[in-house]
Amino acid sequence: MSKKATLEIDGNKYEFPIIEGTEKELGIDIKTLRGVTGGITTIDPGFKNTGSCESGITFLDGEKGILRYRGYSIEELAEKADFLEVAYLLIFGELPTAEQLDKFDKDIKEESHVDEDMKRILDGFPKSAHPMGVLSSLTSALIAFNPGSVDVDSEEAMYNAIVKIMAKFPVLAAWTMRKRKSLPLDYGDSSLGYVENLHKMMFSRPNKSYEANKIVNEALDKLLILHADHEQNCSTSTVRIVGSSHAGLFASLSAGISALWGPLHGGANQAVIEMLEAIKADGGDTAKYIDKAKDKEDPFRLMGFGHRVYKNFDPRAKIIKVSAEEVLGDLGIEDPVLDIAKGLAKVALEDEYFVKRKLYPNVDFYSGIIYRALGIPTEMFTVMFALGRLPGWIAQWREMRLRKEPIGRPRQIYTGENFRAFKSVSER
Ligand code: SDX
Repeated sequence: MSKKATLEIDGNKYEFPIIEGTEKELGIDIKTLRGVTGGITTIDPGFKNTGSCESGITFLDGEKGILRYRGYSIEELAEKADFLEVAYLLIFGELPTAEQLDKFDKDIKEESHVDEDMKRILDGFPKSAHPMGVLSSLTSALIAFNPGSVDVDSEEAMYNAIVKIMAKFPVLAAWTMRKRKSLPLDYGDSSLGYVENLHKMMFSRPNKSYEANKIVNEALDKLLILHADHEQNCSTSTVRIVGSSHAGLFASLSAGISALWGPLHGGANQAVIEMLEAIKADGGDTAKYIDKAKDKEDPFRLMGFGHRVYKNFDPRAKIIKVSAEEVLGDLGIEDPVLDIAKGLAKVALEDEYFVKRKLYPNVDFYSGIIYRALGIPTEMFTVMFALGRLPGWIAQWREMRLRKEPIGRPRQIYTGENFRAFKSVSER
C-alpha cells in the first residue's frame, strides 16, 4: 500500500502520493499541487527541504555520514578503485570490465588534443585571472571547436561528447595553471594513466624529464575520487538545470564550474587554506577565530566547516584527514597549517555553538593541505575540485537528458508592488 500525504487548506483536503526511494527516503510528490489547489505552490529558499529529481547515481545519508556512488561505499572506492574506473561507474552505472575500461581510456586518449586556436583565448586572459573563471570560459569556448557536442540526443553523440570533455578538461585545467606560471603549455603523454598524465601536464618542465611520483599520483587519484559526485549539490543542480533547457553538455559544465567557484561551495578549499594561513600569521590564535565564527556581527565563517546535508562527519573529510597525514609523512613535509587545522577542528568539535548546529569538518577542510603538499598553488584548489567533480556532473547531466526531464523552471511568491498606473516624470 503506497503511502499518501494529506494537505488541508481552508477546510479542503488534498492527497498526494509519497514516493519511497531504494534507501527508504520518502518524498511527497507534489507534481499536481498547483492544479488541484487552484494555484498554491510551496516556498523553500535554498531547497533545504525540496527534492529536484529522483536519481540513481549517488546516495548520501547526512545523519549517518554515508556516501555511496552507484551503491559502492566511498571508503571502498577510495581504497580499491582508480579515478577513471569511478568516472565510468558514475557515468554508465556499473564498474567497467577490463575491456570496457580499456576502450574508455583509449577513446579518451584519442580526444586529448585541444585545438591550437584555444590558446588564443587562453592568451586573452591576464595572468592574474582566477583559474576558475578561465576554466569556465575555456570549457564554454570548446563548444566552438566541437560543434557536434551540442545537440546530443543520441546515446552515441552523448558518448562522444562525454569522451571529448573527459579528455580535454584536464588539458585546459593544466594549461590554466601553466599560463599563470608563464610555462609553455604541455600536451600530455598518452602512454600515461589519466591522473598521472594530468600531473605531468601540470608539473612538467621544459628543461628536465618528468618523473612520476607514485605517492603524489595515488594521493591525487584518491582526492579526485572523493570529489567525483555528491548528489544534488549547488553546482550539480546548476549543471542539471542548464542542461534541462537542452543547452549542450559543455555549456552546462561551464555553468557548473562557475557555481562551484563560490566560497560557500567548492571555493571553500581555497578559503580554508587562506583562513589557516591567517590564523598562523596571527600567532595561531584559534580561539579568536572560533569566537569570530560564532559572532553573528562578524561575517567570518569557519571555512571547511558545516554542510547542508552532513550533520555528522563528512566521510570524505575523515578519509582526507588520514590521507593528509600519510602524504605529508611520505613526502617528509612538515606543514604547521595541518596542526592548526587539527587544533581548530578539536576546539570547534567541543564547542557548544558548533555541536548544537551539527557543524563538522567537510570535504574542503583538509583537502587543501594535501593539494599544497603536492605543490598545487592555492588558487588552483577549486580547479582540482572541478577535475574530480567532472564525471559526477556528466553522470547527472546524462541521467537528466536520458530521462527526458522537463525544463527546470521554479515558481515564486510575488511580494512586490500591486498594480499602479504609470506617472510621467513631472508627476513623480
Ligand atoms: C561543499 O552540498 C554539497 O554537497 C556541497 C559539497 C559537494 O561535495 O558538492 O559537499 C561541497 O560545498 C562543502 C561546503 C563548503 N563550504 C564551506 O565550508 C563554507 C562554510 N560553510 C558554511 O557556509 C555552511 O555550512 C554551508 C554553506 C556549507 C551550509 O550552509 P546551510 O546549510 O545553508 O546552513 P546555514 O548557513 O543555514 O547555517 C546554519 C547555522 C547558522 O547559524 P544560525 O543562523 O542557526 O545561528 O549554522 C551556522 C550559520 O550561521 N553556520 C556556521 C558555519 N556554517 C553554518 N557558522 C560558522 N561557521 C560555519 N562554517
